[in-house]
Amino acid sequence: MTLIFGHRGSAGTRPENTMISFKEAVRLGADGIELDVHLSKDQIPVVIHDETLDRTTNGSGFVKDYSADELVHLDASWKFDEYRGEANIPLLEEVLKWASESAVPFIINIELKNNVIEYSGLEEKVISLVKHFELDDRVILSSFNHSSMVLALKTEPKIETALLYTDGIYKPYEYARRAGARSIHPLMRTVKNELIDLSRENSISVRPFTVNDDKEMHMLFEWESDGFFTDYPGKAIEIKKSIK
Ligand code: G3P
Ligand code: MG
Repeated sequence: MTLIFGHRGSAGTRPENTMISFKEAVRLGADGIELDVHLSKDQIPVVIHDETLDRTTNGSGFVKDYSADELVHLDASWKFDEYRGEANIPLLEEVLKWASESAVPFIINIELKNNVIEYSGLEEKVISLVKHFELDDRVILSSFNHSSMVLALKTEPKIETALLYTDGIYKPYEYARRAGARSIHPLMRTVKNELIDLSRENSISVRPFTVNDDKEMHMLFEWESDGFFTDYPGKAIEIKKSIK
């Protein structure tokens, strides 16, 4: 079954990586949500995509230079004027608490954004929160930093890890197995039916990102990709229903 993951929540229609966006993805019926995590100055995991605040909030400079308390008080409504004053940067703790209390057991893909800034100790901090909320079975950890995913597995082997990449990996399913990962999250443009078949033969799940185009969604349903990430989970769900 091809699962639909709301990328940064429902980023095409709501301010990305905010509770408003995650709640919308789940309300629409997405099987999972994806979110991005950095560490604040006081070492708290916070949910935002960029290393800097400038694009999506009314703050500026690096996330790592602000305390969590300063970060959560910024406005993160970004280009969605209708959410001005209502959207903020969530703590990972807030998202996981909400997920643990939800009646629907949706999957949470936590992308560790430690490929540009190292954020020493990020893996341990995220895993400790996941365990606190007993979400081990519903969380997938991913990163473009594959060594970080190996470290995550050493910290907690029960939580699934996924390797993100954009291009250039030879036999990524074999590479993933060597790294102990259960899945790969490749850039959509690098994905062919053959990759999905060979990965399946190697017991590796494939979930491409970021798939917003109708034709690509149709293709992935036809190829029986394990899942994909989209900014428009509502559209993906409609397409999935239409081809059943
Ligand atoms: O996790 C899939 C996707 O989110 C990876 O790229 O830059 O959108 O975080 P990015
Ligand atoms: Mg991401």
